[in-house]
Amino acid sequence: MSTNQIRDAFLKYFESNNHQVVDSSPLVPANDPTLLFTNAGMVQFKDCFLGTDKRSYSRATSSQRCVRAGGKHNDLENVGYTARHHTFFEMLGNFSFGDYFKQDAIKYCWEFLTEVLKLPKEKLWVTVYDEDQEALDIWVNEIGFPADRISKIGDNKGARYASDNFWAMGDTGPCGPCSEVFYDHGEHIWGGVPGSPEEDGDRFIEIWNLVFMQYNRHKDGTMEPLPKPSVDTGMGLERISAIMQNVHSNYEIDIFQNLIKATANLLNVKDLDNKSLRVIADHIRSCAFMVVDGVIPSNEGRGYVLRRIVRRAIRHGHQLGAGTEGHKAAFFADLVKPLVNEMGSAYPELSEQYDFIVKVLAKEEAAFAKTLDRGMAILEADIAAMSGKTIAGETVFKLYDTFGFPKDLTADIAREKELEIDWNGFEKAMETQREKARAASNFGVDYNDSLSIDEKSEFTGYENVSQDSVVSKLLKGDEEVTSIDSGDKAIVVLKNTPFYAESGGQVGDKGQLVSSNAEFMVTDTQKLGDAIAHIGYLKSGCLTLDSSVTAEVDTNLRQATMRNHSATHLMHAALRELLGTHVQQKGSLVEPDKLRFDFSHTEAVTADELNRIEALVNQKIYENHAVDVEVTDMDSAKEKGAMALFGEKYGDEVRVLSMSPFSVELCGGTHVGNTGEIGPFKITSEAGIAAGVRRIEAVTGEGAVTWMQSSEQTLNAIGGLLKSDPAQAAEKVSQLMEKARQLEKNIEQLKSKLASSQGSDLLSQAVEVKGVKVLVAKLEGVEAKSLREMQDQLKNKLGSSIVLLAVANDGKVGLIAGVSKDLTSKVKAGELVNVVAQQVGGKGGGRPDMAQAGGTDEAALPKALDSVLPWLEEKLI
Ligand code: ALA
Repeated sequence: MSTNQIRDAFLKYFESNNHQVVDSSPLVPANDPTLLFTNAGMVQFKDCFLGTDKRSYSRATSSQRCVRAGGKHNDLENVGYTARHHTFFEMLGNFSFGDYFKQDAIKYCWEFLTEVLKLPKEKLWVTVYDEDQEALDIWVNEIGFPADRISKIGDNKGARYASDNFWAMGDTGPCGPCSEVFYDHGEHIWGGVPGSPEEDGDRFIEIWNLVFMQYNRHKDGTMEPLPKPSVDTGMGLERISAIMQNVHSNYEIDIFQNLIKATANLLNVKDLDNKSLRVIADHIRSCAFMVVDGVIPSNEGRGYVLRRIVRRAIRHGHQLGAGTEGHKAAFFADLVKPLVNEMGSAYPELSEQYDFIVKVLAKEEAAFAKTLDRGMAILEADIAAMSGKTIAGETVFKLYDTFGFPKDLTADIAREKELEIDWNGFEKAMETQREKARAASNFGVDYNDSLSIDEKSEFTGYENVSQDSVVSKLLKGDEEVTSIDSGDKAIVVLKNTPFYAESGGQVGDKGQLVSSNAEFMVTDTQKLGDAIAHIGYLKSGCLTLDSSVTAEVDTNLRQATMRNHSATHLMHAALRELLGTHVQQKGSLVEPDKLRFDFSHTEAVTADELNRIEALVNQKIYENHAVDVEVTDMDSAKEKGAMALFGEKYGDEVRVLSMSPFSVELCGGTHVGNTGEIGPFKITSEAGIAAGVRRIEAVTGEGAVTWMQSSEQTLNAIGGLLKSDPAQAAEKVSQLMEKARQLEKNIEQLKSKLASSQGSDLLSQAVEVKGVKVLVAKLEGVEAKSLREMQDQLKNKLGSSIVLLAVANDGKVGLIAGVSKDLTSKVKAGELVNVVAQQVGGKGGGRPDMAQAGGTDEAALPKALDSVLPWLEEKLI
């Protein structure tokens, strides 16, 4: 059976047993900051287990794409070393949300393995959680599975995941005891039964894990029972395919063989069993799918995991010869095509985003290939110079810091060479670096970090910009006080306030708090736990706890901020529409003066694209759409297609902000009522800020008007100077520049003419010394760089002769000596030039017939020149 057929058979089997077939969710878990990547089929159903998400079905089945690299379940380091580990794999699963439990889960599993796939029963081995007598009884009594082929395994806290029969998605979330089915690949392969010391071998391979979900684990470790016992199962598609295709290693199954062959072809490698080929075939799958799901290589979080995997793949490619003679240098991105051939039909998104994936991977590959070889050379040299078996932490750090080697890449190389790494030394070097960075950065006070209070403030600023309220807390420095006096810097907390505290990229409001006898100027607003902190100073009077104040937001600033915020949403939607849906927000800053938006995109946005983005945003503005706000739950928000941000934590209630269907986003910020209020929108800059991340800055409303006026003024001023219509200014400037070039050329020509005419005058100044024509002269208005040519001309005209010329510009002396070839046996140009040079504080040199020198003492020049003739008198005997 091909891998594709096995996937289909699994889904069909469970569908016929009343399970809803659900599509694979993306690798980046939606709204789950607790998890780096989707690492199991159950991830998208997490809330169904917790009971907070109700669906129309209580049984589901899926084939889920998973990544296990980074985070709790991390297989990156095992890839290439075992037959069964991958960074990317597909997990077949069936799920019950409070429907069936252990008994049916085990029965379905048994029936599918032994009746649908017809696996020989005697090849199977089972494990149960050691406290789970119920599961053991079902296997033995109801299935008739021999008790002597069942291992009881505990939850080995801290031990390897494989021998752990208590499954948890992450540090928090649904979890429960599990029962696993293993397949015996035969005696000829090293390895022992589960729970034995040899279990790490590849003989007994876990194929299916049945998790009996019963608890929700909290941060503090407590286990709360789930509303209803549930089932989560997972079977590695690649592992079951290996069995069905009668091969031992996952890397021998159809999908992998084709990828391995494609890699071998690209890199001209003959031995298809090469470990590096497997690593690359594994890594192209995880990398391509990560890009499909919105991850871009970067230096943190998911992006860094992707970067590490790409770099590991490229290093293995270089090990196979990539970049050396007769081998392609860049190969990794070329593997996307064979991957699409293998998996594109099951995952159409892979074909749809083909161009983008290739671009992202090719760019990352090119960037790293540049430093890889140099880094490797340094590592090899360090290893050669090593006496022991431990690579110094400093070396690992240098490779990381200077050559971009992720530490697990160096670890991989060390493992191949059977060397250790001094990780403590590495950490130390990292810490020193961090300290330096900390010292260099200039962060302001982080109020959230240094203060904590248990006050709660209600935010009323969506509706109001002014609000009567009561002072509920006063802080001076980090101390609570009961009153503050004029001039005091302080934090004021109110029971309710229209002041927006900085969040979601929108800066905090400014304004004032006014009481009957005091005026507090708010220079910033920040969240402090659940309280809203008005940060500022008391301008006059005295403010006490419990006093009544009117909180007045500076409406000009607030309105400008709202215009920029709403425009940011429109621009986000426009970018996705015009550049593609790979565009994802990577950061944003919304302030009164401007908006700044960072997003994933691998290339500079062209001038033409910027124009179109600007035009589309402006169009959405003058179409004057109402800005609708709806407070709802996450599911309805998703149904509306609301864009949520990766890694952002949303509560039970979310605020969906829509401007026509064009832009629908989750957002807690303040916005205009109708898009028309934004006024003109103008992009002011576009630049790259990191690999794969671009930044656009723009202005709106008054800011845009000011920007346009000042551009116009500049243009008018240019037009005025050019005495031309501003519209023709560019052409005029280009004509002027051409003219200037022409004039410069003319000047050069005139200068050289001038010099040669001076030359003719000079000829008459030549004198005879011992029958030799000698010319010594100081030239005026000639630049040092023209001396050489003049000296040549003079020598030519004088014939057999000796020439010494000097110039002085801004106190600096330039000298040249020329001696016709027939005289060089008597006088060398170098000697002659130095006779003068040493008297003007310089030194020179050159050929026997021509030498140059400089000097710094212009005042000494006349005397020095006078000394030439006497010197020659003596020299020319
Ligand atoms: N969630 C379980 C696993 O990943 C099935 O093994």
